[in-house]
Amino acid sequence: MASGGERGHWGSRLGFILAAAGSAVGLGNIWGFPYMTGRNGGGLFVLIYLIAVALVGLPIMMAELFIGRTAQNSPVGAFRSLSRPGSPWIGVGWVGVFAAFIILSFYSVIAGWSMHYIWLSVTDGFAGRTPDEISNMFSSLAANPELCTLWHGIFMLLTIGIVAGGVKGGLELCAKVLMPSLFGMLLILLVWGMTTEGFAPAFKYITGMHDADLLSRLGADQPRFSGRSWLEALGQAFFSLSLGMGALITYGSYLNRKADIVSTSIIISALDTTVALLAAFIIFPIVFAAGQQPGQGPGLVFATIPIAFSMMPGGALLAPIFFLLLTVAAITSAVSLLEVATSYFIDERGWTRGRATILAGTLIGLLGVPSAVSGGSKMFGQGFANLLNTLTFGAYGKNWFDAFVDLTFNLMLPLGALGIATFVAWRVGGQAREQGFKTGTTLGSLYWTWIGLLRYLVPIGVLAVILQALNLI
Ligand code: TRP
Repeated sequence: MASGGERGHWGSRLGFILAAAGSAVGLGNIWGFPYMTGRNGGGLFVLIYLIAVALVGLPIMMAELFIGRTAQNSPVGAFRSLSRPGSPWIGVGWVGVFAAFIILSFYSVIAGWSMHYIWLSVTDGFAGRTPDEISNMFSSLAANPELCTLWHGIFMLLTIGIVAGGVKGGLELCAKVLMPSLFGMLLILLVWGMTTEGFAPAFKYITGMHDADLLSRLGADQPRFSGRSWLEALGQAFFSLSLGMGALITYGSYLNRKADIVSTSIIISALDTTVALLAAFIIFPIVFAAGQQPGQGPGLVFATIPIAFSMMPGGALLAPIFFLLLTVAAITSAVSLLEVATSYFIDERGWTRGRATILAGTLIGLLGVPSAVSGGSKMFGQGFANLLNTLTFGAYGKNWFDAFVDLTFNLMLPLGALGIATFVAWRVGGQAREQGFKTGTTLGSLYWTWIGLLRYLVPIGVLAVILQALNLI
C-alpha cells in the first residue's frame, strides 16, 4: 500500500466521539427525521425508529468501527487487507466510495438551501409575509439553478477547507468547535419551543398519544403509520447513523488499536438519536402552534418552519439560529463524506491530503451541479432543467436529485450495510473477531448478541429495505 506520509489519528477519545457524532448528526436528524415522523403519523414511527437504531443500526456501527480499527485503512484497502486476495469483498469498499461521491453531491445542495435560509432570515426575517409568500420562497429557490449552484459551491469550498486540514487539525477540530455550538443552539430552540402552546400537542404527537382534537382542528387528512413506514424508519436509521458506506470504517481507521468500539458506538448512536428527537421536539411545537400541517413531507423545514417563525414572537431572532443549526449539522456530516473519498486517494494512490481533498471535492462539486439545477424534489423546472431531467432519469419518472437520493438511500446504503454485516458476521476469523470486539471495553459480554444480530436480524431488515425499494414487496 502506498501512503501519503504518516497516517492521521484522533487526538483524544472525546475528539473521536464528537467527530463521529458530528458525522451522524446532520440533515438526516434535523431535516429528515421530523418530516418523516410527520409523514408517517407520529408516535409509532418514532418507536419503530428507536428499535431499528438499537437492533439494526448499532450492530452495524460496531461492525464498521471494528473493520476500520482492525485494518487501519479506508474502506477499499480495509476490505482488501481483511479478505483473501482477489475476493469480491473489496466491492463493498468500492460501493462505499461511490456512495460518498453521490451522497455528498446532493447533500451539499440541501445544505446550500439551508445557508440561503440563514441569509433570508437575516435580511428578510419572514415577518409580515403571508404563508403563501413564504412557502413560495422555497419553490422559487429550488427553481433557481444559479442560486442553488452558488450556495452548493460555497458549501463545498467550506467542506474542502476543513478536510484539507487533516484528521486532527481538520475533522476533529471542526467537531470540537461546532458540536458544542450545535448543542447550544438546540437547547435555545428547545426551551423556546417548550414555551409555545404547541408543545403539549407536539409531545403527544411524538410519543404516540394522539390528540384527535388537535388533528381535527388542523383539518386535512392526517397521515398514518403504514406498512411502508417500517422500512422508511429502517432506511432513515442507516442514513442518520452514517452507516453502509464506510464513513465509520474510515473514522474507525484513525483510532488506535486499543480503543473501545463498543461503548463509543453506543454513545454515538445515543447522541444521534437524542438530536433527532430534540429536533422533533423543536419543530412540531412550532408547527402546531402556528396551525401548520405535520405531514407534508420534505418541505417541512424549509417551507413550513419559516411560516411558523413569521407568526411567533421572537421568531425573527430564532429563525437564523435554526438555519445556522441546520447548516452546522450539515458541515460536520459533509466532512465525513468527503473524508471517505479523500482517504481513498491518499491510501490507495499515495496522494498528499491537499491534492486528494481538492480533487475529490471538485469532482463532487461538479457532480452536484445537476442536482442544484434539477430543482428541489419533484419540481421539474423549465428549459435546461427539463432537458437535463428528461435526458437522464426521466424514463424512471424522476429528476436527477430525486434519483440520486433514492439510489443511495434505498439501494447503495442498504447493500453496503448488508455487505459489512455479512463480512464481519461470517467472514472474519472468529477468534480475532472476538478478541477485537472485547479489546478495551467492559461490555465484552455483548459479543454473542452482536454476532447474533449481525447474522440474522440485520440481513433480514436490510434485505426488506432493498426489496421494497425495487418494488418487490
Ligand atoms: N448521517 C448524516 C445525516 O444524518 C449524513 C451522513 C454523513 C451519512 N455521512 C454519511 C449518511 C455516511 C450515510 C453514510 O445527515
